[in-house]
Amino acid sequence: MSGTVKFGVIGCGLMGREFASASMRWLHLLGDIPRPVIVAACDLNEANRRWFSQVPDTKYFYSDYHELLANPEVEAVYCAVPHHLHGQVYTDVIRAGKHLLGEKPFGMDLAACRQVLEAMEEHPEVFVRCASEFPFYPAAQQMARWFREGAFGRIIEARFAIKHSSDMDLTKPINWKRQRAANGEYGCMGDLGIHTQHLPFRLGLRPVTVSAQLANLVKTRPDAQGNPVPCETWDNALLLCEGEDGAGDRFPMTFEMKRMAPGCTNSVEYEIDGLKMSARFSTDDPNAVYYTQAVGREQAWARLVVGQKTLFPVITGGIFEFGFSDSLLQMFAAYVSELRGLPCEFGCFTPDEALRGHQLLTGALASYTERRVVELA
Ligand SMILES: NC(=O)c1ccc[n+]([C@@H]2O[C@H](COP(=O)([O-])OP(=O)(O)OC[C@H]3O[C@@H](n4cnc5c(N)ncnc54)[C@H](O)[C@@H]3O)[C@@H](O)[C@H]2O)c1
Repeated sequence: MSGTVKFGVIGCGLMGREFASASMRWLHLLGDIPRPVIVAACDLNEANRRWFSQVPDTKYFYSDYHELLANPEVEAVYCAVPHHLHGQVYTDVIRAGKHLLGEKPFGMDLAACRQVLEAMEEHPEVFVRCASEFPFYPAAQQMARWFREGAFGRIIEARFAIKHSSDMDLTKPINWKRQRAANGEYGCMGDLGIHTQHLPFRLGLRPVTVSAQLANLVKTRPDAQGNPVPCETWDNALLLCEGEDGAGDRFPMTFEMKRMAPGCTNSVEYEIDGLKMSARFSTDDPNAVYYTQAVGREQAWARLVVGQKTLFPVITGGIFEFGFSDSLLQMFAAYVSELRGLPCEFGCFTPDEALRGHQLLTGALASYTERRVVELA
């Protein structure tokens, strides 16, 4: 393995730790991809910061992220903080001349996303991407490959969804993701939207109109002491769009983002139906992609087991199952590969794609509150 990329992590919670774990699992990758070495960790919460003392590479610990940005050893930053901080922290990272992998939704709202893009224009030498791991499942990549080969023919309809059920537990204490001040007006759409956007946007499938149904099903949730406090965020969102493909053909396209989907843990689902072929993928059956085969005039659904045929080859045999932490490893491998100018067939979510995502979600808010179909730029 040649070379490293020296990282600082801002936000040592759930996702900061996933990155630390992936950075220590780099031997898993067969290719010669520079390893992310997390030299510095920053969090306001001391216990979360201290967790990084287990990471052999981490030698600097900060509570103020400006100090991390002033450290000349830090070349790139992975930033996983609450949404209301994205605009300020991401622009500070970029203006400090550090490469950035920022977590979704890449700004709490459209204005914050635009701020980040402005900072990028001032610093074209800085490489910036947004985290999004689900398209790196090999079965989803197989769908993408078929699409690029033109296997689907003219699109009939396309559907992209992510569904959780943990909020079905009404006793679950509230956290920042369920509070407007930290999560923003988007609610579940900000938290989950990118997981439904990365694959279609990358395939050139673009929503041109949106009509949204948003639901705030649970208006209060217990705080840490068990007292009910307002829960103001949207729980579920269903966006019906008119989509357009690269050829200019239009088709119905739906985006579903649900925190209250009975029975789901974290089900990401993609389906593209076409005149020649249809295919669908779900993380509930992560090893397989389903596709139609023509049988005379009929269509039969077939299940193709894809296994561990990853974008970036790994030591695991191709017959074994692929999972969530594998998708994160692939995503981080894609980020450092693109950063170092190495081959990367399917890259991380770009800031331009994030901007398009924000335009979609902002349009969805307007559609629901004004009861109209919104034309997207
Ligand atoms: N890609 C994914 O699948 C995925 C999954 C979950 C969350 N996320 C995203 O990751 C980001 C963080 O979410 P999380 O679940 O890790 O949240 P979390 O609450 O577990 O962690 C956030 C951390 O940021 C810290 N923090 C807050 N303000 C800070 C500041 N000013 N300076 C330094 N640290 C600060 C908090 O103390 C906390 O430790 C969000 O943008 C979220 O949307 C992505």
